[in-house]
Amino acid sequence: RPKLPEINTLSDVVSLLRNSENILVLCGAGISTSLGIPDFRSEGGIYERVQARYPFLDDPQMLFDLDQFLVDPRPFYEFAAEIFPPEEALRKPSFCHRFIAQLERSGKLLRCYTQNIDGLERAAGISRTIFCHGSFDTLRCVKCNRSRAICEQDRHQIRRGNVIYCERCTGEEALHANDKRSSLDDGLASDSEDSCGSDGFDPEPVMKPGIVFFGEPLPQEFFDSIEDDLRRADMLLVIGTSLQVAPVADMPRSLDASVPQILVNREVVARARIQFDVELLGDCDFIVRLIAELLGWSDKIGDTERC
Ligand code: OAD
Repeated sequence: RPKLPEINTLSDVVSLLRNSENILVLCGAGISTSLGIPDFRSEGGIYERVQARYPFLDDPQMLFDLDQFLVDPRPFYEFAAEIFPPEEALRKPSFCHRFIAQLERSGKLLRCYTQNIDGLERAAGISRTIFCHGSFDTLRCVKCNRSRAICEQDRHQIRRGNVIYCERCTGEEALHANDKRSSLDDGLASDSEDSCGSDGFDPEPVMKPGIVFFGEPLPQEFFDSIEDDLRRADMLLVIGTSLQVAPVADMPRSLDASVPQILVNREVVARARIQFDVELLGDCDFIVRLIAELLGWSDKIGDTERC
């Protein structure tokens, strides 16, 4: 894809944002690092930490491998404590999250495709979000397949690194029927008796968060929206991702060549082999705050103390 000759500068980006009506945002772990949540591939990021803590894993990505989880969910849950959003982050997501929310309030956001599993897009009120790699918002028992929404008590357990077991399979549900059920089974819950482990393997009744592990398909909502969104988009804004995981990483290449593509990231994403029209390199909260100021949006986005 050749670069568009008329889009070169920060002020071109601001004009584009002013004039676009169907903006696709594609974001990744970089938009949450200012909240203390590590990204995956940077120095000191999740994969480096996993490697140091679990040297017996051949590849740090195995922490997010379904078979590994079924055999032993403890490493995942121990580590989840380090990447689960703190209370404060849920109350006040990053400037980037809040900027994307403002794009939506302005009627400019076609969709926010996030690879993040921290659920902060929901916390920021971005309703047009596709959670491409799922999120912690739901839990499903790997034994009885029952699914339910995460509750405050689960959050507490995850932050302490504890494995969450299925109340139904362990019989805990009956014990806590009166004080727990109402908060657990909110609108997201759905029951199914399909049992996994049909190949003879009988897993422990562990609740697996609704994040997409390697070996699992992306959520159906991704496939339901992507084609139409790629057709309708009039601008692509990529923020805080190394664009290394397909199929999300293929989105820029799948857009019509005439659609402007902007990158906001600490580094170029060379491995993705994409020709962006403008690459704004640096801290994404800082850059996006500058853009918000140039758009006259600072007041709408509110307190900018994090930047
Ligand atoms: P990565 O860790 O691969 O990339 C994060 C990118 O954000 C890097 O290029 C960083 O330089 C950049 N970055 C970090 N902090 C930043 C900041 N404050 N300002 C600007 N840029 C910053 O994370 P993702 O691309 O999101 O998949 O990873 C994609 C997927 O790979 C994840 O969803 C996960 C992982 O395997 C699954 O878990 C299925």
